[in-house]
Amino acid sequence: MSEPNDREEISDLVVSLRGLLQRRQRAGIRVLSGPRPAEIKVAAPPEANLLQGTVDDLFADNAEALSARTLDELHAAIGDCRRCKLCSGRTHLVFGVGNPRAKLMFVGEGPGRDEDLQGEPFVGRAGQLLTDIITKGMGLKREDVYICNVVKCRPPENRNPEPDEVAACEPFLKKQIDIVRPEIIVALGKFAVQTLLQSKAPISRLRGNWSSYHGIKLMPTFHPAYLLRNPADKKLVWEDIKKVIKEMRSENA
Ligand code: URA
Repeated sequence: MSEPNDREEISDLVVSLRGLLQRRQRAGIRVLSGPRPAEIKVAAPPEANLLQGTVDDLFADNAEALSARTLDELHAAIGDCRRCKLCSGRTHLVFGVGNPRAKLMFVGEGPGRDEDLQGEPFVGRAGQLLTDIITKGMGLKREDVYICNVVKCRPPENRNPEPDEVAACEPFLKKQIDIVRPEIIVALGKFAVQTLLQSKAPISRLRGNWSSYHGIKLMPTFHPAYLLRNPADKKLVWEDIKKVIKEMRSENA
């Protein structure tokens, strides 16, 4: 007989697996995919690294999301997300918007009220400022770039996202970056910068200096909402954005 803890663990695994299969089915992915038994080829050689993942990876709600190959697949795998407490207050999960092959990606903190209502990132007042930076400052269209946030659901009363909420959503941000593979990321504000750079250094020290996120050039700068409260610092953001423009031009030269 299993010990009670073993039984609980097995029951948790069964619940996770059932949820995973149901989400795959809803996303139109065949529940039992892969070759039929007769077509199964020779077993993988013993040196193949088949044990890279952990049991947590395999059965976590994220397994399907982390195997997504397109933004649409990732979005479908995130589904009607209940992985953190932000789900209870949201109207829309705000996944991201823009060119799935963008060379430039902007990462913000999390949806505000307007974004929650419309299901699109950066459409409120701070969003208008970001749109001006993209269109008037950089001469690009919003549709040319990709825009998303660290957390995909609105924190109540626009409070800061909490560490457990960031931790629950971070794998999806990383997967978005992995799928889009931009040349440059502009990280807007403390949460985007600290999450992507795994740093606790203040944004005021990091901004304006090139960093790297897994080989992708990353420019930390102030968040547009901060600029609405501190318009005098717009000139600092413009300095940072000019560095991004210069880098993009040299990439395209
Ligand atoms: N602030 C953010 O960080 N993201 C949005 O989408 C809107 C405001």
